Amino acid sequence: MRMHPKIRVHNANREHPKLWIKKKIIKGQIYYAIYDGKHFVKHIGNAEAYTKYLNDLEKLESKKKALTQRTYIPDMPSGKYNVIYADPPWDIESMVLEKWESPLEDKYPTMKLKLLKNLKIEELCADDCVCFLWATHTTLPKAFELLRDWRFKYHCLLTWDKGGGWCVGGFHRKTELVLVGYRGILSNVVKEKGEYIPTLFYEKKTTHSTKPQIMYELIESRTIGKRIELFARNKREGWDVWGLDVNDK
Ligand SMILES: C[S@@+](CC[C@H](N)C(=O)[O-])C[C@H]1O[C@@H](n2cnc3c(N)ncnc32)[C@H](O)[C@@H]1O
Repeated sequence: MRMHPKIRVHNANREHPKLWIKKKIIKGQIYYAIYDGKHFVKHIGNAEAYTKYLNDLEKLESKKKALTQRTYIPDMPSGKYNVIYADPPWDIESMVLEKWESPLEDKYPTMKLKLLKNLKIEELCADDCVCFLWATHTTLPKAFELLRDWRFKYHCLLTWDKGGGWCVGGFHRKTELVLVGYRGILSNVVKEKGEYIPTLFYEKKTTHSTKPQIMYELIESRTIGKRIELFARNKREGWDVWGLDVNDK
């Protein structure tokens, strides 16, 4: 099988595997599929499906561009919170795309670190406040920087074993991370008696970028005070929420 000569995904910072479109011949018929150097990772279909796929990708690219340029920031609520749970739309900057719908990119706009630092987190924080901040292996250094910039003192790191993930440079990244930081007195916002919050937990991943339900359950059972989820996708009872998907414009 030959690599398709025209379509190749460049890997800007070598974080992610290179991907190509390759032809496959099955029972004398030509098909197209995405190939990562070892395996076919996505079947596209025959020549007609392949043409449609390329057209759809072009539309998707312009949609993403429009979304990213918008950088609309919804108003933050005016309350003070004891628990801040945040899953930022990190700007991964890893793939230079030609004709590929990156499985690492969701269809939501991303935010640069500077923009995340500029959010008015200070105004949301009660004197005693704990922050749970999601990061990937790639964004972990930025996450530490952001946590510090938001003026939380780093406490510990939680690891979510999601059961599968990308293989990058010899490592199977099947975990994501949650930085825990606090202001004021930690024991005023995280219960010290009873079941502890484990620093390692398992829940099978579902759709891309969706975080595990267990995180909500742990926070609800083990923290004290008013909670807000930043960059939320859904409303949840007992929480205030903020983000593009939950705030009215
Ligand atoms: C990583 S996703 C959150 C996923 C979520 N935690 C879940 O489990 O489904 C990041 C979210 O940030 C939102 N977002 C992107 N840009 C934003 C902005 N400028 N202001 C507020 N929210 C934004 C996106 O719409 C998306 O819902």
